[in-house]
This record gives sequence, C-alpha cells and structure tokens, in this order.
Amino acid sequence: MVGPAVMTVPLRSARLLLRAYDADDAAFVRDLYSREAVQRFLGDGTARTTTLEAAREKIAGWQAAWGADQVLGVWAVCEPDGSPLGTVLLKSIPDSGADTAHDVEVGWHLHPDAWGRGLATEAARTVLDHAFAAGLDRVVAVTHPDNTASQAVCRRLGMTHRGRTRAYYDTECELFELMAPDSFTASSRGAVRDDAVGGRAAGAAPRGDGES
Ligand SMILES: CC(C)(COP(=O)(O)OP(=O)(O)OC[C@H]1O[C@@H](n2cnc3c(N)ncnc32)[C@H](O)[C@@H]1OP(=O)(O)O)[C@@H](O)C(=O)NCCC(=O)NCCS
Repeated sequence: MVGPAVMTVPLRSARLLLRAYDADDAAFVRDLYSREAVQRFLGDGTARTTTLEAAREKIAGWQAAWGADQVLGVWAVCEPDGSPLGTVLLKSIPDSGADTAHDVEVGWHLHPDAWGRGLATEAARTVLDHAFAAGLDRVVAVTHPDNTASQAVCRRLGMTHRGRTRAYYDTECELFELMAPDSFTASSRGAVRDDAVGGRAAGAAPRGDGES
C-alpha cells in the first residue's frame, strides 16, 4: 500500500474485476506505460514509464490524487483473479489555461494483449454505471483526433460526439459526452454526491501527464 488509505471502490462486471492499483502492480504499470502503442495518443505521445521506481511513483500519484475519493478514481482493470489488464479512470478533467476542473472524464488504457475483446468498453461501462449511480449527471471523454480505436469505444458506450474542442488539457481533442440515463433517478442515486463528487469535480484537478 502506498500513502493514505485507498477508498477506490472495487467494481465487478461479467468478465472483470476493477480494483485500486497498489505498489505490487508496478511491474505491470511499467510494462503498460512503457509501450509506444499505449502512449502514442496520451498527452504529447512521448511519455514512457520505463523503471519500476517511476511506475511506483505513478501509482502513488494516482492514489494521492484520487484514492481518498468515494466516487472518482483510477482502477486496475483485472481478470477476476486480480491479474491486471489495464487501467480505467474516472476523474476531474483539467480545464485549458486554468488550474480548474468543472467536468468529469472517463478514460481507458489497456495492454495490447487485452485489445479486441471488448474489455475496455466493459470496464468503462462499469465505471459509468458507478458514476451515474453515485449522482453524476454527465461524464465526458476526450481523445486525440487520430485515436479511432478510442473513439470507437466512446461510440460503443453510447456517448455522443460533440466535435473538436480545446476546452481541456490545453490541446485539441475530440469530445464525447454521456448524460445520466433516466433510470438513474434522483431517488436511486447514492448520497455521496455532494460530499465526494460535486466538490472534487468543481475544484482543481491534478494535470498528470495528459493521461486520459
Ligand atoms: C483504446 C483501446 C482501449 C481500445 O481497445 P479495444 O480492445 O479496441 O476496445 P474494446 O474493449 O471496446 O474492444 C472492441 C473490440 O473488441 C471486439 N470484441 C470482441 N469481443 C467483444 C465483446 N464481447 N464485446 C465487445 N467487443 C468485442 C470488437 O469487435 C472490437 O474489435 P475491432 O476494433 O477489431 O472491431 C486500446 O486501443 C488502448 O488501450 N489504446 C492505448 C491507450 C489509449 O489510446 N487510450 C485512449 C486514450 S483517449
């Protein structure tokens, strides 16, 4: 365990366990984020996590930023036995040109060995259900304009394409959004929204390395 107690809630789907990363996942995180195929559309495409120390720092950074949040978080996407396959995140998205964040984004990074099985879409759908059950009204996703694989995930999730934007991360992205479905009525939502989500989403967001 790195840093303070991690509250990232474990989530399950038909084929996946989503759980908090911990320091024992450093070798996987290094493997995942050292790859050109994974990093090419993240941030400026040049970041590479090549050492175990850097991987541990990345995990500790996620935990410091999101580990105490009851709704938002960074999850290891895992086989049911806990073996990691990638990352799914639900977090505040930094506004361009300001140290603020008003929206919440969902994002996904899978190891290439796990591509082509619908697992990113399954993991993201699980996190979105969790978000809407907790009271979020709207979640966005942004992709590099050339990241057609990620745009396909957005479409599989039923997200609406809103075109190009420079609203986030000081860069041009394709913007997708999903509104809470009607089935998530106010009465069925969790009571944590005001404490855990509203305050976080409206505050400053760690900028990370443009990692959505
Ligand atoms: C973006 C990324 C997660 C997409 O992964 P993916 O495996 O293509 O996405 P999905 O999980 O939705 O899987 C869909 C694929 O699985 C196939 N599939 C197989 N079984 C499936 C099932 N049960 N359900 C759905 N799709 C299934 C689909 O046909 C599709 O394959 P296709 O693209 O050849 O048609 C992956 O390319 C990645 O991690 N890239 C690097 C990081 C990155 O760029 N992240 C996004 C930043 S914005």
